[in-house]
Amino acid sequence: MAFTEQDFIIREKLLNQPHDLVIDSEAPSNIALVKYWGKYGVQLPMNPSISFTLNKSQTQTTVYLTALDKISDKVSFKFYLDQKHQADFEPKIAGFFKKIKKFVPFITYFNWKIYSSNSFPHSSGIASSASGFAALSKIIVDLEKQLYPPKTETYYAYKTSFLARLGSGSASRSTAHPVMIWGHHPDIKQTSDLYAIVPDFEIHPIFKTYKDSIILVEKGQKKVSSTVGHTLMNTHPFKNIRKQHAYERVLQMTRYLKSGDLENFIKLTEAEALELHALMMTSSPNYILMQPDTLKIIHNIRNFRKKTGLPLCFTLDAGANVHVLYPDEITQQLQQLLFSKIEFETIHDYI
Ligand code: DP6
Repeated sequence: MAFTEQDFIIREKLLNQPHDLVIDSEAPSNIALVKYWGKYGVQLPMNPSISFTLNKSQTQTTVYLTALDKISDKVSFKFYLDQKHQADFEPKIAGFFKKIKKFVPFITYFNWKIYSSNSFPHSSGIASSASGFAALSKIIVDLEKQLYPPKTETYYAYKTSFLARLGSGSASRSTAHPVMIWGHHPDIKQTSDLYAIVPDFEIHPIFKTYKDSIILVEKGQKKVSSTVGHTLMNTHPFKNIRKQHAYERVLQMTRYLKSGDLENFIKLTEAEALELHALMMTSSPNYILMQPDTLKIIHNIRNFRKKTGLPLCFTLDAGANVHVLYPDEITQQLQQLLFSKIEFETIHDYI
């Protein structure tokens, strides 16, 4: 049975008094196969999405908690990235704490020092917000476990994803592996707009070996943030057709992941990547995140696939970089044949 928001409100009394603590966690990034694009209410998705967890791109977080004598209304904290204080990240984290306070009021009982670092390079274009909010949410749920009477593992798993979602939508899909679905789908059991779930079917062995190599076209900050892109979907002329596609495609994707149907997996994954960017190009105002090199790489991938018959494909997130998805068994051929021919920096092996 799906959980409601009310289920995540703590009604029990504290079992243990708050005391100074150090808690560590880590969480992976993820890449959507069917994309979350558009939202409603408080961080709820316009459509369901499904992703691969990128186990090799992790955010590690350690928090140093000091129990306060006097509880304040606001959470007092400082955020450090690679040991350096990063004030520019703090407004987003403060907003996160404000949104989750109703569900985890004990966060105000402490002063927080949050130390984070990523196992992937800053320039990789992998959004650290997904893994970052997922890692922080794991810590908060761990703290809840230490302070309150025990609950079920399902409650803790869903609550972690529920909290992460309130930091960044895609973060809800960074709390488990190998595949997560976020957003209610009438034909997929347990799915919810409030949190992501691991679907209850076994994925085909071929997908357990999948890799994601990112071909870097552009480093650094995105020109248009995803949040702005989501907002533009509210008035998008293709909003309804997009929603319909996403519902159909999430279901189709689950079938391909189960059966190992690589041909259809490739068709669908690429159609989704292009549709995401088509939506950006047809919103009002419209914008283009792909660069000439993005297209060059896409053509290279498609030509290479045609020539060799190898099952590689691409996907895109809200940027110009290209994610190349492929089964481990073809890694050698890809390195020799594809990546040697294109002059872009490639970061391998993110899943
Ligand atoms: C294109 O999760 O970054 O990567 O909820 O506003 O933080 P916010 O947006 P975010 O959007 C991700 C969009 C995407 C597709 C996806 O990951 O599903």
